[in-house]
Amino acid sequence: MNVCVAGVGYVGLITGVCLAYLDNNVYCVDIDPEKIQNLKNGIPPIYEPGLKELLEICTKKGTIKFSTDIEEGVINSDVIFIAVGTPSLPSGEPNLEYVRSVSFNIGKYIDCNKSRIVINKSTVPIGSGNWVEMLINEGVKSNKNICNNTTNKHPKFWVVSNPEFLREGCAIHDTLYPDRIVIGSDNDEALAILTKLYNPILQQNFIRPVKEKINPPNITAVPLVTTDITSAEMIKYASNAFLATKISFINEIANICEKVGADVQQVAQGIGLDSRIGNKFLNAGIGWGGSCFPKDLSAIISIAKEYDYDTELLKATINVNMQQRHNIIKKLQQALKIIKGRTIGILGLSFKPNTDDLRDAPSIYIITQLLKMGACIKAYDPIAMTKCQKTYSELNVTYENNILDLAKDCDAIIIVTEWDEFIYMDLNKIKEIMSIPIIIDSRNILDTKAAEKAGIILHQVGKSSQVKSLLNSKVG
Ligand code: UDX
Ligand code: UDX
Repeated sequence: MNVCVAGVGYVGLITGVCLAYLDNNVYCVDIDPEKIQNLKNGIPPIYEPGLKELLEICTKKGTIKFSTDIEEGVINSDVIFIAVGTPSLPSGEPNLEYVRSVSFNIGKYIDCNKSRIVINKSTVPIGSGNWVEMLINEGVKSNKNICNNTTNKHPKFWVVSNPEFLREGCAIHDTLYPDRIVIGSDNDEALAILTKLYNPILQQNFIRPVKEKINPPNITAVPLVTTDITSAEMIKYASNAFLATKISFINEIANICEKVGADVQQVAQGIGLDSRIGNKFLNAGIGWGGSCFPKDLSAIISIAKEYDYDTELLKATINVNMQQRHNIIKKLQQALKIIKGRTIGILGLSFKPNTDDLRDAPSIYIITQLLKMGACIKAYDPIAMTKCQKTYSELNVTYENNILDLAKDCDAIIIVTEWDEFIYMDLNKIKEIMSIPIIIDSRNILDTKAAEKAGIILHQVGKSSQVKSLLNSKVG
């Protein structure tokens, strides 16, 4: 099928590359000429495991094109994905100006030679399907090549909701092997066309990309959920709101565990074995960041507010999450006492591993607060440092090239992102070169016994500090 993806960011690019891999003809369109030029040269604008390789395959197959010209994309496509940014406004509502301008342009260039499906991939407020349709129709009014030489005087298109559930760092995996595909539309023809587009994924009958980083699960089919457009939009928001709430839940439990001396990782294991709870998204720590959870939670809260509904639970989810970042600072203060003038090493900048995305990354909050408290900051991240230096050039941070250079002369280290290399770092070496061997492990990735053996003063989240184990040894 001929596909146009408008907006080649974290979601649009992955969607485009995967559909091109499945032998659709894909036009990836973006307003950023540098991004498009780099993509034409095979250089992706984002880090995502397996993306570069898949991009090479599609470029060789000739199934993917990059352009800044949306007219070319609209004219040549049967299906148009809107995947432009919908960042939060200060009020918490999503900024829809990009969706507005892309929708208008789709209407401006659409023709009557064939019907089209316009897919809202961008997370838009509930009930936006009709709004996007209205915007496209506004564009049709200024459409120069409107259908004079054809019988039907108005371009035929349907707006459909097809929310994405991609986790950054495994977005290609989540696109090719999703838990489900959700399509929201009241039009049978539109549903049939999208079912055809997604058929290889639904049937899992495509040749799987050989990539150690995209481990295919042993699934033989993918469930398709077809519903009305509003319910499909709500499924997206409800999914992210639930996942964020689950994380804030385990973090609240972790904070209670610290008071009573319980071990939150043992608690998470114990409750996660209950099939009604499930063992995923129960990793207590500094909490969630990224572009989706914060944005989608704010959006659903602001939508509910329009109907005078007070989302107490979702507000609490946000409050608990923000408190976790304060709690990490408090742990450092309890361990180090004086922060001013101390050298603190930050391990991990991206909001989660295997991505370079810094949007609402806890690391930026921690660094900003510690700089205000007069600390001297060093940082190391295997992937996100370049982006951090560019995006946050105003932060007075010394960037190091590896863990040991980071650890040298530090009075404390905070592990903020759980990159694999931090899990297995040489704690004995680190203890030797740090000024004071304090590690605040905000993701609970270090082995407490190994840390104790190396002489590291380790503080984690929801885990009894070493004091308890010393107490036990005394009592024992
Ligand atoms: C986007 C939406 O923000 C999110 O709500 C949705 O769930 C998935 O798609 P993301 O891919 O992370 O998420 O956005 P971003 O990385 O900001 O990429 C958006 C792209 O759209 C950028 O490359 C930007 O240049 C482009 N864009 C923006 C356009 O092509 N046209 C515009 O008018 C505005
Ligand atoms: C999320 C949703 O998972 C995805 O379905 C949606 O499409 C986009 O938003 P993403 O934000 O990329 O994906 O990452 P995810 O793996 O969900 O992690 C989100 C945040 O939660 C990260 O900051 C992560 O560090 C944190 N997290 C995750 C925890 O703190 N504990 C956990 O157990 C899991």
